[in-house]
Amino acid sequence: MNTIDRSKPATIVIFGASGDLTQRKLVPALHTLSCRRLLSPDTRIIGVSRSEYSDEAFREHLYDGVVEYSRAASGPDTVCQMWSDFSDNYSYMSGDLSDLKTYRRLGDRLETFDQEADTQGCVLFYLAVPPTLYTMIVERLGRSGLNRSEKGWRRVIVEKPFGHDLESARQLNDQIHQVFDEDQIYRIDHYLGKETVQNIMSLRFANAIFEPLWSRNYVDHVQISVTESVGVGHRAGYYEDAGVLRDMFQNHLLQLLTLTALEPPVAFEATALRDEKAKVLRAVSPITDSVRGQYRAYRDEEEVAADSDTATYAALKLQVDNWRWRGVPFYLRSGKNLSLKSTEIAIQFKGVPHLMFQVDPEKDITPDVLSLCIQPNEGIHLRFQAKEPGSGMETRPVTMEFHYAGEFGAGALPEAYERLLLDALNGDASLFARADEIELAWSLIDPVLEKWEGEEAPPLAFYESGTWGPSEADRLLAADGRTWHQQCCAEH
Ligand code: BG6
Repeated sequence: MNTIDRSKPATIVIFGASGDLTQRKLVPALHTLSCRRLLSPDTRIIGVSRSEYSDEAFREHLYDGVVEYSRAASGPDTVCQMWSDFSDNYSYMSGDLSDLKTYRRLGDRLETFDQEADTQGCVLFYLAVPPTLYTMIVERLGRSGLNRSEKGWRRVIVEKPFGHDLESARQLNDQIHQVFDEDQIYRIDHYLGKETVQNIMSLRFANAIFEPLWSRNYVDHVQISVTESVGVGHRAGYYEDAGVLRDMFQNHLLQLLTLTALEPPVAFEATALRDEKAKVLRAVSPITDSVRGQYRAYRDEEEVAADSDTATYAALKLQVDNWRWRGVPFYLRSGKNLSLKSTEIAIQFKGVPHLMFQVDPEKDITPDVLSLCIQPNEGIHLRFQAKEPGSGMETRPVTMEFHYAGEFGAGALPEAYERLLLDALNGDASLFARADEIELAWSLIDPVLEKWEGEEAPPLAFYESGTWGPSEADRLLAADGRTWHQQCCAEH
């Protein structure tokens, strides 16, 4: 879909509604959508969890989240006005998610919404629950017949992590497919909801100037860096078991890789786009070069084992073995507790074949780099050589920049969940991961995990908090005569 349409009346059921995700992300995003008139005023949202809440108490709890996190809230006064128009559409049902009776009661509520708001039987189920509950809830939805409606659509949104490895992801796909068809399933990777991630496709396919350069003929290599300045915080319980490869690479980094490397889809439409993404993943050769790191203070975190060897940092070298990319390495890195939070894709171009200017041998000519600043300071930088005034023919690198904030105003960028919720309501699955993508991504990451967890695991490379990660990651590139880019986007 290329334009944003307002959603039609429907009910959203949030399982796990008393949790963090609902209060910090989902409801603030729905609020912004309703303020922008993108959400039908006849949308009904019902939260289902074990905790006891009255409708009123639930709304108050959500209101706090809206004030704090919604883009459309610039203070309690503003939010109040907008909130009062819509807040009655939220309701709550307490229930045991393993008990079929809960689903029967939910079915009755859905009938009532249908009569009140003419939702035409359309329901979006959101699994905002721990992954261990996914199959149970889906199975109960199937047994109680809530997975189908004669009148309208039924869809389910599944949060990440989607599986723990290839086998568990396959099992999860199979179990969900017993109840929902693939076109009813929306697997979230919130990176795909980021405006700048979608802009990778605009940059490549709405402009004619970049595409001819976008291949092994002109690109030397690509770096994808997702650095975080925070540690694992209160999520250590989950993280200990997941580590950085499962938490960031299997999903976010590989999604960024597919969008950077894919062939032009015939249309911006779910099947065409996801087919091309899957082809990229299929073309990636088994990963042989990897660095696994851990920040020094990690083992002192609460709920972390004193001898934990969970990786909080990884750097991988990938080869996309197809006509376009053969021989162009893609270096991926991500870690916690690094010097800053930034996501950047740097496309480094090849040097000139022959330099006709006499250059100071002490000074290297820095190669041209196109940096896609995914976050923060969302935008694009192009670094190239320019003549230094009055210096004979000496050149130095300069940068041309585009920033969303400067061009479209601060606060213009939607939150990822706004876009993703609206797309799911409108039945557009382009920005959601398909079953085969998930499995292909696991099939690349699994062997690295196996190696890391086996007897031939590379030694854990420790790094100080607030640095750029372990020096082993520098050596990974140095072995190819390359260096990591400074995260230029974050500095502007
Ligand atoms: C989540 C990971 O998927 O993405 C977190 O579980 C990580 O560990 C987060 O911090 C990063 O997302 P963002 O949007 O802040 O870059």
